Amino acid sequence: MKDQAEALRKRLQIKSNRQNSKSIAVVSGKGGVGKSNFSLNFAISLSKRGHKVLLFDMDIGMGNIDILLGNQAKCSISDFFDGKETLSNLISEGPEQLHYIAGGSGLERLITIDDDTFSSFSDELSSIMDNYQYIIFDMGAGVTKESLSFILSVDEIIVVTTPEPTSITDAYSMMKHIHIQNQDIPFLIVVNRVLDDRDGINTYKRLKEVSKRFLGRDLNALGVIPDDRSILKAVTSQTPFILKDVRSDASKAIIRITERYETQLLKEMPATNAFHFVTKLKRFLFER
Ligand SMILES: Nc1ncnc2c1ncn2[C@@H]1O[C@H](COP(=O)(O)OP(=O)(O)O)[C@@H](O)[C@H]1O
Ligand SMILES: [Mg+2]
Repeated sequence: MKDQAEALRKRLQIKSNRQNSKSIAVVSGKGGVGKSNFSLNFAISLSKRGHKVLLFDMDIGMGNIDILLGNQAKCSISDFFDGKETLSNLISEGPEQLHYIAGGSGLERLITIDDDTFSSFSDELSSIMDNYQYIIFDMGAGVTKESLSFILSVDEIIVVTTPEPTSITDAYSMMKHIHIQNQDIPFLIVVNRVLDDRDGINTYKRLKEVSKRFLGRDLNALGVIPDDRSILKAVTSQTPFILKDVRSDASKAIIRITERYETQLLKEMPATNAFHFVTKLKRFLFER
């Protein structure tokens, strides 16, 4: 125990010289709205612009980042909990220097693991996270107890919705669920599969209005992505759409979103460090 504390202190000392990392959760109320495609292509786009990015597939049991990349992962988070692998061995290299941790069953075990295993999980996670500027968690649809702990620990939450009323309603319920627990983490909205810009703006406005009225809370627009058949083709060929055809409308939208994120939103939202993320995670998992 003493050794662990010592090791942690040492790491914290080194940390002060390092770049702060930012953790982002990508969520939605409804499934199938395009979270994984958004997360992956946004992550690649940030990576292409010279940032160090780790994409963490958190869709327990339904993870598919490795499928979208056409690269079946050899091991999953379960191997970590079984003591077969270290967390850093789970990191795979994707295109454009993107690093990712593939999904798989196992994360639900976080709430039942013993203190020692959690301690090594959190120590390793915070030191891994410190190597990256962005850690993006592609979450499953809706919330579970474990996923809520992760969501409440991040710096920013990207909510993906489509213009469909059911998707908007579910996105709102999701935000409400999070808002009850935390009123400060910014919500950035992505409207996916829009018919045109107006469709996107109207969807955003509807969400903004209900949020303002019922939660008393403002939202940030991150951008819109058109409904684009090139995504279906990219998914079928297991190549991220931004790499398959950088000139497609969907790719242009991702590039616009990345630019907006970097130039405007980043200035407004301060980064924190990985240690904070892990401290919060621990609190949410064990102290409620
Ligand atoms: N902008 C879009 N235009 C057309 N089809 C899309 C778009 N976004 C997503 N899709 C389709 O929706 C499917 C589900 O997307 P996915 O990213 O796996 O959703 P989620 O992670 O939210 O479940 C994709 O396989 C793709 O066929
Ligand atoms: Mg998904």
